[in-house]
Amino acid sequence: MNVVLMGPPGVGKGTQAAALKAFLGVPHVSTGDILRASMNEGSPLGKKVKEYVESGRLVPDELMGDLIAERLARHDAARGFVLDGFPRTLEQVAILDGVLERLGRSLDRVLILTAPEAEIVHRLSGRRSCPKCGSVFHLESRPPKAAGICDNCGSALVQRKDDTEEVIRERLRVYASQTVPVAGAYRTKGLLAEVDGLGEVAEIGARLKAGLGRTQPA
Ligand code: AP5
Repeated sequence: MNVVLMGPPGVGKGTQAAALKAFLGVPHVSTGDILRASMNEGSPLGKKVKEYVESGRLVPDELMGDLIAERLARHDAARGFVLDGFPRTLEQVAILDGVLERLGRSLDRVLILTAPEAEIVHRLSGRRSCPKCGSVFHLESRPPKAAGICDNCGSALVQRKDDTEEVIRERLRVYASQTVPVAGAYRTKGLLAEVDGLGEVAEIGARLKAGLGRTQPA
């Protein structure tokens, strides 16, 4: 299945994509993770995007288009993907349509997770991430077994630079102005399923599967 998972910053896309990926047997393609990996490597791309990401602004569409075209053409995405963080603008919707057309594919479903703003700010300000393996924790709802240490690889957890209150507000503003219209475009195409992002992680996962119309793993 070719699935887009969208929703405001911090609503739980990465958390849910990890389970969806296993359920569907396809890779989780997160543009945020790809950009952060290039920032950590200090690659030319990373240097270019750092300023955008850390201030909560969107990386230019043209750059994102090249990145997504290269990623979706890779062998592991041939059977499908869970795309998290793309498209975020109407221009990126057109870019994705073009990339999929060239690959002879089309989107099966767009899932959008929703949650009130206060919950989002709470989730993001308490998030701690592992810079090495990418695992995500929360100080209250998903604390690591040992404070400040990743359960999976033992690295020291960090707070993302874009998880400060000021940058969170900017990311929410950008989402409302540039990404909400993307949901409208997919609604018009009949592809959108809205899923309540409040509740236990497993409960939300079951709602997402229902939104895909599937109850059995691939
Ligand atoms: P990206 O990394 O995609 O950030 P985002 O969309 O803002 O989403 P997050 O990763 O912050 O949150 P999430 O929804 O995955 O939530 P999570 O599961 O971690 O993008 C970062 C930046 O890169 C952008 O701002 C932009 O600059 C750039 N970028 C990326 N894509 C781009 C594009 N296409 N075009 C241009 N620029 C682009 O959960 C959050 C917290 O909540 C965690 O602590 C988690 O443990 C907790 N949590 C999760 N579920 C629950 C639950 N049910 N109950 C309680 N807590 C929960």
